[in-house]
Amino acid sequence: MTSSQALLTRYKDVVAPAIYRYTDLTFVRGEGVYLYDADGRRYLDFSAGIATMAVGHQHPRVVEAVIQQAHRLFHAAAHIGVMEPYVALLEKVRSLAPGHLREGKGILLNSGSEAVEAALKLARYVTGRPIIIAFRHAFHGRPMGALAATASNAAFRRRLSGLAVGVHHMIYPTPRVPFGRSPEERGQMALELIEEALRTVLPPEDVAGILVEPILGEGGYFVPPPGFLEGLRALCDRYGFLLIADEVQTGLGRTGRWFAVEHWGVEPDILVLGKALGGGLPLGAVLARREIADAWDPGAHGSTFGGNPLACQAGLATIAVIEEEGLLENAQQVGAYLRERFEEARTSMPMIGDVRGLGLMLGVEVVEPETGRPAIDRIGPFVKAISQAGVVITKCGESTLRIAPPLILTREQADEGVEIILKVLRG
Ligand SMILES: Cc1ncc(COP(=O)(O)O)c(C=O)c1O
Repeated sequence: MTSSQALLTRYKDVVAPAIYRYTDLTFVRGEGVYLYDADGRRYLDFSAGIATMAVGHQHPRVVEAVIQQAHRLFHAAAHIGVMEPYVALLEKVRSLAPGHLREGKGILLNSGSEAVEAALKLARYVTGRPIIIAFRHAFHGRPMGALAATASNAAFRRRLSGLAVGVHHMIYPTPRVPFGRSPEERGQMALELIEEALRTVLPPEDVAGILVEPILGEGGYFVPPPGFLEGLRALCDRYGFLLIADEVQTGLGRTGRWFAVEHWGVEPDILVLGKALGGGLPLGAVLARREIADAWDPGAHGSTFGGNPLACQAGLATIAVIEEEGLLENAQQVGAYLRERFEEARTSMPMIGDVRGLGLMLGVEVVEPETGRPAIDRIGPFVKAISQAGVVITKCGESTLRIAPPLILTREQADEGVEIILKVLRG
C-alpha cells in the first residue's frame, strides 16, 4: 500500500461522507503552483484550494509573516481589545475598495459564509426590512443562514427546505435562461422580472438588499451581461435597497482587478470577502459604507476568532505580494492566454463548449459532442482523470471545468496544464 492509499484509508474510516471530495489525492506539501502528495508526486494546482491561494503555496513572504506573528501573539479576541493586524488588514482592504467603500468600515470573520451571514444581518439590521433578494445558481455558503441564499444546486438544500425565510431568489441571466436573444436582452429581462416581483410578491419597502455574486462562481463561472449589475445598482438606488456584492471567490485579484465589480464600474454598499483574504488561513470580511457600518450598534454581531492575528498577517502579506509582483496584470495576461488556448482547442474538439470567465477565473464547459448539451455524467470522471494525470482541478455549474490557479501562474505552467487537460479530454 502506498502512503497515499494508507492516508485515504484512515480518512474514510474517520471522516463523515458529507464532505464531498472531487478526488482521492492526498496533499502533504505545497510550493508555488505545485502540490505534492504523500508519495512525493507533484501536481500542478489549477484549484488553489478553491480559488484561495492567490500567491501560491508557501510563499516565503506569507510564511514569514505568519511565523513572526506566531512569535508575538496567536489570539486575544477582538471583543476583548484591539489587535493591530485586525486594524491593518481592514485599512488595507478599504484602501483598495471601490468608491465610497474607501471611507467604509468593516469587521472580520472566519470564513466566506460567515461573512455572508454577517452582511445579511447588517442589511436587515440597518434597514429594518426583512427580505433579501438573491439569485438562482448563486453560491453563498453552507451554514444555515448562508445556505438560505445559496441556490446553485438543489442537493445543497436537500432535507433542509424551508430554510429560505426572508430570501427571495430571482433569475441570474446566464445564457441558459429560456428568454432573451442577446446577452443584453437577457440581462434586461432578468431586471424586469425583479421589477415584476416588486409589483406582485415583494413589497419594495420590505426588501433590505440584493445579494449578488458579480460573476457566478460555484454556479458555473458565468459572467453577467453588460448592464445587469449596473441595473441592480439602479434598482437599489430607486428603492433604497443595499447592494451586497459577494466577492468571496472573485475578490482580491482573481478576475484581474482587485474586485470584480470594478469591471462594470459598480459600487456596492456592502462588500463580502473570504478565500484569498486569509492567504490560506481562515478569514472573511464585511466592508460597508461608513454610515451603514456606523448604524450597526455595538453587540449586534461578534465572533471569538474573527480577525485572528495570524490570518490577518497572512492576508496582509498576500495583498502585498499581489501588489509587488504585479499579479493583477499577470491574472489578466495569463488568463487571456489560457482562454485563447482553450478556444483554439475548441475548434477541433467538439466536446469543448463555452469557454468563459475573467482573469484567472476561467470555465471550460464540457459538452456532449453530438448534442452540445452539458456532459453532466462525464464531468466527474474527467475531473478525477485530469487530477490523476497531474493537474488538480474541480468543476462548477453542471459540467464546467473550473480553472482557478494561483495568480502567480506563468505562461509555461499554463501550457503544462492545458496539455494535460486536453490529453485527458481527447481520451
Ligand atoms: C461566492 C462565495 N460565497 C461564499 C462562499 C462560502 O465561503 P466559505 O466556504 O469560506 O464559507 C463561497 C465558497 O466557495 C463562495 O464561492
